[in-house]
Amino acid sequence: MTVTAPTSEVVFDVRNVTLRFGGVTSLNDVSLQMRRGEILAVIGPNGAGKTSLFNSLTGVYTPQEGSIMLAARRGDSPTSVVGMKTHRVNQLGVARTFQNIRLFPALTALENVKVGVETRQRSGPIAAMLGMPWQRREERESNSRAYELMKRVGLSGRANDIASSLAYGEQRRLEIARALGTNPGVILLDEPAAGTNPVEKRELASLIKSINAEDDVSVLLIEHDMKLVMSVADRIVVLNFGEKIAEGTPEQIQRDPVVIAAYLGTSAEQAESQADAQPELRLIDIEPEGEQS
Ligand SMILES: Nc1ncnc2c1ncn2[C@@H]1O[C@H](COP(=O)(O)OP(=O)(O)OP(=O)(O)O)[C@@H](O)[C@H]1O
Ligand SMILES: [Mg+2]
Repeated sequence: MTVTAPTSEVVFDVRNVTLRFGGVTSLNDVSLQMRRGEILAVIGPNGAGKTSLFNSLTGVYTPQEGSIMLAARRGDSPTSVVGMKTHRVNQLGVARTFQNIRLFPALTALENVKVGVETRQRSGPIAAMLGMPWQRREERESNSRAYELMKRVGLSGRANDIASSLAYGEQRRLEIARALGTNPGVILLDEPAAGTNPVEKRELASLIKSINAEDDVSVLLIEHDMKLVMSVADRIVVLNFGEKIAEGTPEQIQRDPVVIAAYLGTSAEQAESQADAQPELRLIDIEPEGEQS
């Protein structure tokens, strides 16, 4: 295999990353490239290392081995994020949402989004107290930007409601709006459809596609819902026990016996013979157990 030098057409260039916690190896020699403008999904059974990968990409964890280069926005030159602080990675254009929703529950929906928007502004609390002119202008700007984002995710009617009073699916979209407030070049979504109903899942799929296409944001998506993954992803990377076991288009991944075996907990040979017996067997029919849907 030839190894090419990182270019700005690659958003994340992950090479041979290994992350260990004591005796547990969460990521084992993982390499992948995320291309600019794509929707790349990361799938795999529970405990496969998906969230660990996100945490490594965003400076939450520092892998013991390997390199991670980032060029989040068009024209950026690649920068190493290994050992970088999370807020710095965010400033470089990486936004994320969390597997377990993290909102400020007592703030309004709009205020939650403003928190995202204001991380990009210069005013601190001192300027706010002194009522500096640029601070007042920034306040107006952050209000209107936050409203715009609320509208973007279909929540304009809920702007002044307390975040914790929003339905689960709305809270997930609110998190996306807050993440977009930081004006990212790439957004990392960790199970955005978890706990949402089928209607919300369809809305989420079109939101993800429009963020990608209209806002020019590359999307890295962790998701257990195979229908959603297959309908939005340009490419898919599959992790199992911390290792990358497959990579390809949704069509390739759905038929890959190694991937089906990982989900069924059988060998690839068994999965293949099962697929022969049931030609309609596709990954889309294999939902991991215990998933809320
Ligand atoms: N901070 C940590 N300390 C110790 N072990 C960890 C830590 N973070 C992750 N791990 C371990 O790394 C492995 C991968 O976990 P991770 O959360 O990345 O999986 P996942 O693919 O996101 O799973 P799920 O689909 O259940 O969210 C697990 O064995 C987990 O226990
Ligand atoms: Mg996870």
